[in-house]
Amino acid sequence: MLSSNETILVTGGAGYIGSHTVLSLQKKGCNVIVLDNLVYGHRDIIEKVLGAELIVGDINNYALLCDIFRSHNISSVIHFAAYAYVGESCQSPGKYYRNNVVGTLTLLEAMRDSGVNKIVFSSTCATYGIPTENPITESQIQQPINPYGATKLTVEKMLQDFDQAHGIKSVVFRYFNAAGADPESRLGEDHVPETHLIPLILLTALGQRKAISIFGNDYPTPDGTCIRDYIHVSDLAEAHVLGLKYLLAGNDSNTFNLGNGNGFSVKEVIETAKAVTNRNIPVIQSERRPGDPPILVGSSDKAKAILNWQPKYSDLAQILQHAWRWHQQRHG
Ligand code: UFG
Repeated sequence: MLSSNETILVTGGAGYIGSHTVLSLQKKGCNVIVLDNLVYGHRDIIEKVLGAELIVGDINNYALLCDIFRSHNISSVIHFAAYAYVGESCQSPGKYYRNNVVGTLTLLEAMRDSGVNKIVFSSTCATYGIPTENPITESQIQQPINPYGATKLTVEKMLQDFDQAHGIKSVVFRYFNAAGADPESRLGEDHVPETHLIPLILLTALGQRKAISIFGNDYPTPDGTCIRDYIHVSDLAEAHVLGLKYLLAGNDSNTFNLGNGNGFSVKEVIETAKAVTNRNIPVIQSERRPGDPPILVGSSDKAKAILNWQPKYSDLAQILQHAWRWHQQRHG
């Protein structure tokens, strides 16, 4: 059970999905400590919006982690801290293996040595590579096609080994495309640099970018553009609370996809954004972006059945509406 006696360490809690999860945990009355090195995270979100305790530091710092576990009596960890740019991971794989794999290894060793034995881990549909079937279920073979996906898959394997040897129980979430923003506009998506489709479309609608590039129009999809499964970030955040409850109830390690089960093409997302924003959104047709699978759609039946997860905001227009409201407030 979740209670105010629980203190949860959220690594990467100043990032996009991490910050929304901190908000969900706070709503349930949990004490939250955020550990973030602020390379990509935002200090003002934690200090001014969420009011959680922020420790600026790195998951590669074993002594710091042990100190946090001891001094804050941490019961469990939700682990977001990672680099997550697919393109950069192809150019600088070492950076990704060091942070995502070695950093998580350090975290797991510190947990083992401090008696902390529950972790919710943020993995990705990028671990599947090019799927043989859509919608993708958790049992589908994992063959990542970029170093980012490979680092996340390596951590999934490490978690299994740390469970076997040290009894550290984990819930692994493989997200599809996180999108949207807090319905009350307290938080949103603010990557620097921004590479994701929806924020780039909305920045174009705001006139801060000249046009949105469509990467490839010759994919084997009905309109030739890539299809993705966009899942509201607040629904992802709720899933993390349920994953934590599941572990605190003494259940075994488990893995769940988190998506809506509906795919939308790049062109469909742009058309929906035009309707939601009522703005002109100029489009440029560009080359394919290396490493993009044509279709990624997830089945989340397992999370619904076992965790009783029920996404609230599965309508794409509503996801875009929430993102648009936040973008207008932050960047308008
Ligand atoms: N796209 C464009 N133009 C852009 C940006 C994106 O056409 O300017 C397209 C991409 O080619 C892709 C779709 O829009 O087909 C979505 O792209 P995003 O960059 O928003 O998201 P990705 O699907 O590439 O990435 C997401 C997560 C990653 C994860 C990946 C798995 O953000 O963390 O899914 O494939 F690794």
